[in-house]
Amino acid sequence: MPSSPPVPQLPPLKKRDMTIEELKKFDGQNEEGRICVAVNGKVFDVTKGKRFYGPGGPYAAFAGRDASRGLALFSVECHEGYDDLSDLNSMQMDSVREWEIQFQERYHYVGRLLKPNEEPTDYSDEEDASQDQSTVDTASSSPSSKKAD
Ligand code: HEM
Repeated sequence: MPSSPPVPQLPPLKKRDMTIEELKKFDGQNEEGRICVAVNGKVFDVTKGKRFYGPGGPYAAFAGRDASRGLALFSVECHEGYDDLSDLNSMQMDSVREWEIQFQERYHYVGRLLKPNEEPTDYSDEEDASQDQSTVDTASSSPSSKKAD
């Protein structure tokens, strides 16, 4: 088996909310190769999952997109524009939330996916807090909560 290509190691994105248009820029095709995916109104940096979401990957269609509907309906087709998910039934919405939890456990949370005309939150005050989070000291977290990456 050939070994998989190295996954780019990028510094975490600064916490920021983004519109669907801004999210599109993080489709892995930019110079940086950074990939973001939105699930249930939350944007995650999935660059470390490049083998899934990168060009040629099985879920490349989700790169730079809101994957909520696709994940709920088991389809890699994506909705164009902002998707309010209001026509999904409760089972489908449960599925969206379960995926959201999985992404939360696996990937860095970047910020909210903005609805049209919604203003982004100013996170500049939180900068120190997010720094602390990225350098979590293992002494304060139980060994069982550590992720096997
Ligand atoms: C024949 C159908 C499918 C097979 C065999 C399959 C297989 C897999 C496998 C083996 C993984 C785990 C890989 C790993 O963790 O190393 C995975 C992850 C995943 N699958 Fe599928 N899958 C299928 C269909 C789908 C569909 C229809 C969707 C959604 C529309 C989907 C979305 C995902 C996502 C989002 C991940 C997680 C990737 C991550 O960790 O970020 N899969 N799939």
